[in-house]
Amino acid sequence: MTQQQPMRVGIHDIAIATGHHVLELDDLAETLSVDPAKYHVGIGQDAFSVPAADEDIVTMGAAAAQEIIDRHGAEGIRTVLFATESGVDQSKAAGVFVHGLLGLPQNVRVVELKQACYGGTAAVQLALGIVARAPHERVLVIAADVARYDVDTAAEPTQGAGAAAMLIAADPDLIDLEPAAGVFTADVDDFWRPNDRSTALVDGRLSVSAYVNAFVGAWDDLAGQGGPAYDDIARFVHHQPFTKMAIKAHRKLTQHVGVPFDESDLALGFTYNRQTGNTYTASLWIGLAALLDLDDDLGGERIGLFSYGSGSVGELITGIVRPEYQDHRRQGRVRELLAARVPLTVPEYRELHAAGAATSEDVERPRVTAGPFRFAGVRSGARHYERTAQA
Ligand code: CAA
Repeated sequence: MTQQQPMRVGIHDIAIATGHHVLELDDLAETLSVDPAKYHVGIGQDAFSVPAADEDIVTMGAAAAQEIIDRHGAEGIRTVLFATESGVDQSKAAGVFVHGLLGLPQNVRVVELKQACYGGTAAVQLALGIVARAPHERVLVIAADVARYDVDTAAEPTQGAGAAAMLIAADPDLIDLEPAAGVFTADVDDFWRPNDRSTALVDGRLSVSAYVNAFVGAWDDLAGQGGPAYDDIARFVHHQPFTKMAIKAHRKLTQHVGVPFDESDLALGFTYNRQTGNTYTASLWIGLAALLDLDDDLGGERIGLFSYGSGSVGELITGIVRPEYQDHRRQGRVRELLAARVPLTVPEYRELHAAGAATSEDVERPRVTAGPFRFAGVRSGARHYERTAQA
């Protein structure tokens, strides 16, 4: 009897979207009389994306997902999983709006997932299970968030906005995800957002130690599950609330494992996140997109992906990058998106921030976004979205 090859399942494609505006942290530093090096070096961020008045997680998620549909069609997609911390409705899944905007067929299941920034990885795991049982199906995973903290708090420079959409499929073009996963959960009050708040509450110092503990804990669990040795992982990508967080956690892991730490190994995966700011559920995947776009030596190599969601859940998974991954690079596209953002002054950003809380009051939103979809406003208490002329 011939031995069957195990089925390859993983990330077939990935696309990124972000907000219409950008706030340069140099401008925030000047307003707050802070040394800009604190932001660029101390926390490792350069700028953050700010959604326009007619953008939110739905419009950014739909924009990223539209790219996936444009490249692959909707055939085989019977599941849409939308992960977010910044949901727009307590009941209706954001993915249902996206399903409508993209014109997907009706025979599709759609659901929203939540566990702070970890939800995107939970969605990927669910998608892998679905594809493993039904290899002819493909799952559209969308992770989108607007990271909002109160102004004039220590967390203000670590806001951001963005989305990642991925197609999870058998025989993927980009990465074969491996079955072993390291998981870790601890009940910690490091970051949370009560139902009556549109901005998160965060204990920044505690979130650093909780993240580090979750990374080391997930590593140990992965080892216990038969995961690879440290030296068999060519690159790591981390969830990046701010890029210094990933550096601190990785340094700790190398001490734990007893190997040298070279900060520069992580740098390419930080390239896009330094510009978008924290994108919560999308952050890890935007980091992965940067690594795939910018690192020329990944073909056939194993990479580690660490996801963290405050509160707290961590998961470390690994995958083997396909030899032909460079044929599917989108570097130019992401650079274009980042460069096209319209800069805001600090007063303009703060005005948008103040108006950014979700509301059930009827309102029409001004036409601002240059993206393919817009949030038109609230009518009779319900949110309305539409395609723009750019769609
Ligand atoms: N030049 C270079 N470095 C400087 C500097 C200068 N002039 N001035 C200060 N620094 C350094 C400091 O030494 C410090 O470095 P270390 O951490 O290595 O010691 C760093 O800059 C930050 O300085 P502070 O600690 O003084 O900064 P702060 O009190 O203003 O707070 C922060 C920084 C804790 C990161 C704060 O911005 C914060 O709380 N951010 C939010 C935290 C966060 O995102 N947590 C993640 C939660 S996980 C997540 O993403 C949520 C989820 O699950 C949805």
